[in-house]
Amino acid sequence: IAALGLSNCNKGGGDAIKVGEFASLTGKEATFGTSSHEGTLLAVEEINAGGGVLGKKIQLLTEDNQSKPGESTNAVNKLISKDGVVAVLGEVASSRSFEAAPVCQDNKIPMISPASTNPSVTEVGDYISRACFTDPFQGAALANFATGELKATKIAMLTDVKSDYSKGLAKFFKEKFLANGGTLVTELDYNGGDKDFKAQLTTIKNGNPQAVFVPGYYTDVALIAIQAKQLGLSVPLFGGDGWESSVLLDIGKEAMNGNYFSTHCAADQGTPKMTAFVDAYKKKFNGKTPDAMAVLGYDSAMLLADAMKRAATTEGPKLRDAIAATKDFEGVSGKFSLNKNRDAVKALVFIKIEDGKFRYTATVNP
Ligand code: PHE
Repeated sequence: IAALGLSNCNKGGGDAIKVGEFASLTGKEATFGTSSHEGTLLAVEEINAGGGVLGKKIQLLTEDNQSKPGESTNAVNKLISKDGVVAVLGEVASSRSFEAAPVCQDNKIPMISPASTNPSVTEVGDYISRACFTDPFQGAALANFATGELKATKIAMLTDVKSDYSKGLAKFFKEKFLANGGTLVTELDYNGGDKDFKAQLTTIKNGNPQAVFVPGYYTDVALIAIQAKQLGLSVPLFGGDGWESSVLLDIGKEAMNGNYFSTHCAADQGTPKMTAFVDAYKKKFNGKTPDAMAVLGYDSAMLLADAMKRAATTEGPKLRDAIAATKDFEGVSGKFSLNKNRDAVKALVFIKIEDGKFRYTATVNP
């Protein structure tokens, strides 16, 4: 389904380079797609203002998958077969990138996920790459955070069994946490979109954990935090990048204070590139502060343009090789290279939620 008004952005004329984007602009994870789209849009505008790529403007064609299973395959099929895009940017959520990746691979159209961290996404094939780290790294960093910073060796874990991201992050966390000498006192599941978590949280409370690991997405996490407080479960909750959305605070409010999550970068991390990006983004989007998805949307589009220049063509196999050869790319999210699996090797950051705000606390290098 075409996102009304978005599909025709940046029309560059007949001989523009068509780049496709599929995103969750509506539905359960709407902030993922809205943010990544805004970041991507800003990058395309900057690229075109600077004269474009290979003597042409970039035309961005955007499709909304409504955060729904099944829609990403349709969206990417349309972008490739009907619109004739030369590359695809997307998605944030791993399950949806995983759905679209085989379509790009089969058509020899390079796809760059800005923010999907499950390792299986790029394992689909050599046309698939990403501008972010993967969950073996994030899971290990979270395990070290638990045993190191939180000094918690007895932990409960609550996983969304509907999400590849959640299941993967839970698995990688568990491996490292157990290796660090920790004990998982309770391991329970939910289905993304559930509204009542009281049964699981009651069992978790009875296990007396020192902290609760929730590798989920923000809408569910906010409800879990509220219900945990209602049940008198007062230990810290912590999770990964799926927590990152201003909606986490809008829904969870005070229940979110004192909790932690890891993510890709922070608007207040203080690097010159980030500070400049925050200013440009605020100017374009009514004073809104960019989140990690916005930054990664921007970085993925810039990486694609950089690879097009190095390839000196938009032809699939050569563009794929140029993307895979990305070295020391100066992203807003940090400097990174792609490894042999076409995954970015880069730092992550930790955020603490305090007084209803996200505060950058630390950087972990790979
Ligand atoms: N990493 C998450 C996934 O793979 C998506 C995500 C990225 C969420 C960045 C928030 C911020 O599903």
